[in-house]
Amino acid sequence: MAEDLVSQLGALGEEFARAIAPLGDEQSIRDVQARYLGKKGKVTLLMRDMGGLDPDRRKAVGAEFNRIKNAITDAVDARLRELEQAVHQRDLARTVDVTLPGRSGWDGHVHILSQVRAEQVAIFAELGFDIAEGPQVETDFHNFEALAMPKDHPARDMQDTFYVTDDIVLRTHTSPVQIRTMLARKPPVRIVAPGVVYRRDDDPTHSPMFTQMEGLLVDRHVRFSDLKGVLLHYVRRFFGKATLDVRFRPSYFPFVEPGAEVDMQCAFCSGGGTSSCRVCKGTGWVEIGGSGMVDPDVFAHVGYDSELYTGFAFGMGVERMAMLRHGVNDIKYYYTGDLRFLRQF
Ligand code: FA5
Repeated sequence: MAEDLVSQLGALGEEFARAIAPLGDEQSIRDVQARYLGKKGKVTLLMRDMGGLDPDRRKAVGAEFNRIKNAITDAVDARLRELEQAVHQRDLARTVDVTLPGRSGWDGHVHILSQVRAEQVAIFAELGFDIAEGPQVETDFHNFEALAMPKDHPARDMQDTFYVTDDIVLRTHTSPVQIRTMLARKPPVRIVAPGVVYRRDDDPTHSPMFTQMEGLLVDRHVRFSDLKGVLLHYVRRFFGKATLDVRFRPSYFPFVEPGAEVDMQCAFCSGGGTSSCRVCKGTGWVEIGGSGMVDPDVFAHVGYDSELYTGFAFGMGVERMAMLRHGVNDIKYYYTGDLRFLRQF
């Protein structure tokens, strides 16, 4: 009886293996599994007969029962894994185009402000200007005094200054590079000085740290019309529009006489002044910097003979020009390191 049970169990095991071999979905495999191991399954029913065996025999048959039960469970798992693999392979074959190029990583690139600054310097270099530099932590003498702004001069209030000590400041503009250059060189002088400057300013178009591009040209017979010609060339080249115009509005800077704010025609509405233009607010013009003819008082500070030499100077906002060209409406985008912004350039 016991041997009979063992061989019947073995036969059921083989029968089960044959039954699931052709099946192609999980549900039918589970159904067959239940037909053998479920409450009324063939293997389960057969085990009821074990009750009549003497204890020794029951042990041997019990072991065979467990072996067959495990074999059936393992076979079900293996078959289900095979099916899953087959589905996976089919999906791969369907959705992967192995001829497509792989995804490459992001390449770093030069920051938009550095690009713009380099472009602007290149435009002036074409006109024969050299590059000059000065320190960002500057003496009161270079930043104010030699630019005709003695200590009690009201024009100092035009720029809200970060003081390091009473006599040392974070430079508020690039104009002190004019002084450093003229103290170091004899005329003729033709330089641009790009650099970072600092002011207690903070709104969508003003940052506490920003970049200016100073220009200085000193020689015999330099006239205001030379200043206009140079700035016109600069604006047209930078914006790539040969018809853009610039205009000068009389203004006061202690170190130039006469002094003027420089406006350019709005590159967005092409100076048309449409009331909907958010850049020029319908005026057709936008301010880009300050300029003028070097004041003889400044020449006196650096030992230049103002009877022999004249010169012009200007100071442009680099971020301002970049904002106008690229339609950026908040200066903070340049400094916050947001890759969604930076990757556009
Ligand atoms: C000056 O700084 C003068 N040194 C310019 C100058 C040079 C005049 C030589 C005459 C001769 P102003 O304060 O206007 O001028 O600044 C020049 C430009 O810098 C502004 O037109 C603007 O484009 C930019 N600018 C000024 N403040 C800020 C700021 N907080 N953030 C960003 N750009 C600014």
